Amino acid sequence: YLYSMGAALLAYLLGSLSFAVIVSKALGLKDPRSYGSKNPGATNVLRSGSKAAAVTTLFLDGLKGWLPVVLVKWFGADYGLGDGTVAAVGLAAFLGHLYPVFFQFKGGKGVATAAGVLLGISWLLGLATLATWLIVAYFSRYSSLAAIVAAVFAPLYYLFGDRAAWYVDKGILVVVFAIAVLLVYRHRENINKLLKGTESKLGASKKPAK
Ligand code: G3P
Repeated sequence: YLYSMGAALLAYLLGSLSFAVIVSKALGLKDPRSYGSKNPGATNVLRSGSKAAAVTTLFLDGLKGWLPVVLVKWFGADYGLGDGTVAAVGLAAFLGHLYPVFFQFKGGKGVATAAGVLLGISWLLGLATLATWLIVAYFSRYSSLAAIVAAVFAPLYYLFGDRAAWYVDKGILVVVFAIAVLLVYRHRENINKLLKGTESKLGASKKPAK
């Protein structure tokens, strides 16, 4: 139990590293919390005009979700850690991204980190969810809408992929569902803008955002 709590705490601290802010600073770019949607995430970093910074942010924010999950899966058994801890560290890393202890608890919307967590739980689950994001993003050009739709589908993929690709662990199911609910909740501003038709599209502007 102590190991499980410790693992979740470490995952939360790792999740708290807001890579949109860290990568932007390292590359001498403006703080993503100061322009565009003001969200510390890869989509908003893209609005700085730097694709490299956005891709790096996406990768590192994803990695911090993936890593704790796979570490517990690979080595957890040696410490008596099972699926309960896999679920706990996945949720903890995601919560760290949303409510980072190092950034006054003002984090991002969790898309990249959730993708990392899902890929860690199962490659197939992660890829199915990423494919959903890509399809919606390709046709709508809305990063936020793609994330919302992918989040709705993720728990369904997990539930109905049962037996074909994995068995459903109740704790992991609850966490995948909780992540989806929180992710949609974090997009409430985007939802308002989508309804009003004022949401910004991917690649809409070639000029850096003000
Ligand atoms: O990365 C989060 C994305 O879904 C929306 O980001 O900056 O357009 O609010 P943003």
